[in-house]
Amino acid sequence: KRYNISLIKGDGIGPEIVDEAVKVLDTVAGACSFTLDYKEYLMGGIAIDETGVPLPTETVEGVLKSDACLFGAIGGEKWDTLPRDLRPETGLLKFREEMGVYANLRPAIVYDELVNASTLKPEVIEGCDIMVVRELIGGIYFGQPRANDGQKAYNTMVYTKPEIERIGKQAFEFAMKRDKRVCSVDKANVLEVSQLWRDTMEEIAKDYPAVELTHMYVDNAAMQLVRNPKQFDVIVTGNIFGDILSDTASMVVGSIGLLPSASTGDKTAIYEPIHGSAPDIAGQGIANPIATIESAAMMLRYSLGEVEAASKIETAIRNVLKDGYRTKDLAAYDAKEVVTTAEMGDIIAN
Ligand code: NAI
Ligand code: MG
Repeated sequence: KRYNISLIKGDGIGPEIVDEAVKVLDTVAGACSFTLDYKEYLMGGIAIDETGVPLPTETVEGVLKSDACLFGAIGGEKWDTLPRDLRPETGLLKFREEMGVYANLRPAIVYDELVNASTLKPEVIEGCDIMVVRELIGGIYFGQPRANDGQKAYNTMVYTKPEIERIGKQAFEFAMKRDKRVCSVDKANVLEVSQLWRDTMEEIAKDYPAVELTHMYVDNAAMQLVRNPKQFDVIVTGNIFGDILSDTASMVVGSIGLLPSASTGDKTAIYEPIHGSAPDIAGQGIANPIATIESAAMMLRYSLGEVEAASKIETAIRNVLKDGYRTKDLAAYDAKEVVTTAEMGDIIAN
C-alpha cells in the first residue's frame, strides 16, 4: 500500500521535530510493508519569507489532495510585527477552517516512567488516560457579529445543532473504543448555547446505550481535572472551553513536548504536536520530538488505518522512556542518558 502524506514543517523547531517523525514513520512503514510518499508545503513564517503570504493556495490544494497531513509548528518574533492578516498564526487558523477540521482530539496520557514529571502528585495521575474532544471551527472564536470600537466590544457564541451533533458523535465513537464514558462540559446554568449543547448530547446518547454520559459545568471541570483527572475518559466540549481545558489536561502529563493532537473533519486530517515553534530552543537540537512522533502514530491509526504500525510506535516510545532516555526538557526525571532531538528519533526508530 502507498499513502500520500503532506508535510508542513513550519518555523522554529518545526523542521527538527518533523524530520524525526518522518524517520520513525519510514522505519515502521518498512517493517509493516507500506510506503509513505511525502510532499512538503509551506505555511507560517517561512511561507511569508518565500511567497509573501502565510498560507499559499498551493498548500491548501496540495494538502486536500493528500491522505493526511503532518504538521510541525509555525510562528516567531520575526513575523510578530506584521499586520494581523499577514501573520503566521492567521495562516494556521485559516488553514484549519479551509480543511474543515471541526474536531480537535487531544489525548493526555500519563506515562508510568514519567509520573514525576507532572506538577501533580504521582498517586493523583498514575494511569491517567483522557481524550479531550474539542470543537475547533465554531463557537465564540468564529461567531458573527464581532466588533470592537474602542468603547464597546463583543463576540458571539453560536452553535447550530448540526455542529453539535457532528462533534458529539465523534466523542461517543471514541468512547466506544475506550472506557465508554463521555463527560460533556458546558455552562448550561447561564448560556443558551450550552442548553442546546446539553440537549443535543442527550439525544446522541440515545444511539449509544453502552456509553455513560455525564455533564459538568466548565468551572467545575477545570477544578476536577487538577483534583482527580482519573475520573475522566472522554471529555467533549466547545471551542473556547476545550482550548482552556486541554491546556490544563496537558499539565497533568508533564511536558508540553509529549502531547500530540489530531484535527479531523470530513476532509484531510491534520496531525500536530500541541506546542508551538519554541523559538527559544530552535536550532539547538534539544527539542523533544515525542509529541510529533505520537502525532504521526495517531495519523497512522486514524487516517491510514495502519493500527499495528501505530501501536509499534507507541510501544517504542514507552520502551525508550523506560530505558531512561530523555531530551533536555525531561532531563530531571529519572534520566539515565540525556539525548539530542535527532538521537531520540534514532533510538525510537531503532
Ligand atoms: P511554545 O509551545 O512554542 O513554547 C512554550 C515553551 O515550551 C517554550 O519554553 C519552549 O521552549 C517549550 N517547548 C515547546 N515545545 C517543546 C518541545 N518539543 N521540546 C521541549 N520544549 C518545548 O509556545 P510560545 O513560546 O508561546 O510560542 C512560540 C511561537 O509559537 C509563537 O510564535 C506562537 O504564536 C507559536 N505557536 C504556534 C502554534 C502552532 O503552530 N500550532 C501553537 C502555539 C504557539
Ligand atoms: Mg490554546
